[in-house]
Amino acid sequence: MSSDLGSKVVIVNFKAYAEVDGPKASALAKACQDVAAETGASIVACPPIVELSAVAASVKIPVLSQNIDPKKPGSATGWVTPSMVKACGCAGTLINHAEHKMPIESIAEAIRMAHELGLVTVVCAESVEKAKEIAAYAPEYIAVEPPELIGGDISVTTADPAIVRNTVDAVKSVDSSIRVLCGAGVKNGRDVTAAISLGAEGVLLASGVVKATDPHAVLRDLVSGL
Ligand code: G3P
Repeated sequence: MSSDLGSKVVIVNFKAYAEVDGPKASALAKACQDVAAETGASIVACPPIVELSAVAASVKIPVLSQNIDPKKPGSATGWVTPSMVKACGCAGTLINHAEHKMPIESIAEAIRMAHELGLVTVVCAESVEKAKEIAAYAPEYIAVEPPELIGGDISVTTADPAIVRNTVDAVKSVDSSIRVLCGAGVKNGRDVTAAISLGAEGVLLASGVVKATDPHAVLRDLVSGL
C-alpha cells in the first residue's frame, strides 16, 4: 500500500451529512473520481464508516475512514478497528477530527496500528502546538483545522493564514517528511491556491463539496487551485 495520497491533494470529508446517507455516499465518491480522472488531480473520498465497503468497491480513488479506534479485532463491540478499515479496501484513515477527538496516547497507538497494516494516516490538529505534538508520532499527513472556522464560509487561509504557515514550520521542524494540509471553510480554487502558497500540500474540506448542488463543478474549481 502506498503511503502517498498524492503530492498535492484534496480530501473530501463527507462527515455525517444527510446528503451522503446510504448510496448517496458512493454517488459523491464517483463525482470525486470523475473530476480526478478529468483533471489528473488527487482527490480522496472520506465517507461515513457504514458506507466504507460500498464506496471503496465503487471507486478507484483512495478512500479514507473518518476514524479508527486503537482496538484489536475481537471483543470490541461498536469500535472501528484498523483491521476492519483495511478489509473494507481503504487506503487509510483520518484520526482525531475536531468532531471526533482522541487523547494523544490513543492517537499514537492508532497511528502505530494503522502503519502496521499499511494504512495512510491523516491526523487532524486544532492548533500549531497540537500539530507539533502529533508530528512526533510520524503520521503521513497532519491537517490543521481551527474548530471555530469549521463549517463556515471564511476559509482558514483568509481568517488565519498564520496558523497554516506556523503549522507547516512546526511540523517540518519535527519531521520534514510529514505533509501538512489545512481545512475549515475552504470553498473554492482561490482558497486552495492560498493554502498551497502558505506551504500546505493540500486541503481537507467538507461542506463546500458535500452540500453543493453541483459537486462536479465545485471539485473542478477546487483542484484548479492545486
Ligand atoms: O474535515 C473537514 C472539515 O472539518 C472542514 O469542514 O465544512 O469547513 O469544509 P468545512
